[in-house]
Amino acid sequence: MVMGDASGMAACGGAEHRPRPRCGKAPAPAGETSAHEGTTTHTKLITAADLTLGDIDNAMAEKGKTTYDVKCQACHSMGENRVVGPGWKGVTTRRKPEWIMNMIMNIDVMLSEDPEAQKMLEECLVRMPNQNLSHDEARQVLEFMRTL
Ligand code: HEC
Repeated sequence: MVMGDASGMAACGGAEHRPRPRCGKAPAPAGETSAHEGTTTHTKLITAADLTLGDIDNAMAEKGKTTYDVKCQACHSMGENRVVGPGWKGVTTRRKPEWIMNMIMNIDVMLSEDPEAQKMLEECLVRMPNQNLSHDEARQVLEFMRTL
């Protein structure tokens, strides 16, 4: 008995048809929805427990502003308008602090795993580059964002 291949296709080349080319998106491992849980992920994303936010610390915010001027300003405004990436006004009300920290420090993980980050990438069409900030620098930028 011969198992019929779909007739009309060249059946003997062994070439597999792959209708969907891979476009650089890594196949999501099991648990797509658990990107926000700090315990089981294979990455070291920052969690809420890693951050303490009190009243705005102006000295810290000022240092964050300096980092912004040097490393972020080219793509982010302090207002609402998008440059390359979204403007930062109100970003700390739209996003959780740990999410923001991860966008700054773990952008590659976020773009491959976090649905919100991926949605933005689709809109902005540019991958935010990793700016290699230290945890302290990222935290200062977060403080600066809180003043906007
Ligand atoms: C080359 C342009 C570029 C630079 C430089 C850049 N970003 Fe971004 N940023 C983006 C883009 C584009 C996005 C949207 C996500 C994406 O498409 O990757 C983004 C998204 C973000 C977000 C999420 C914003 C939101 O509204 O949710 C944060 C937070 C952020 N960037 C922080 C920073 C910080 C902090 C720096 C500087 C240390 C920085 N970015 C430098 C392009 C840039």
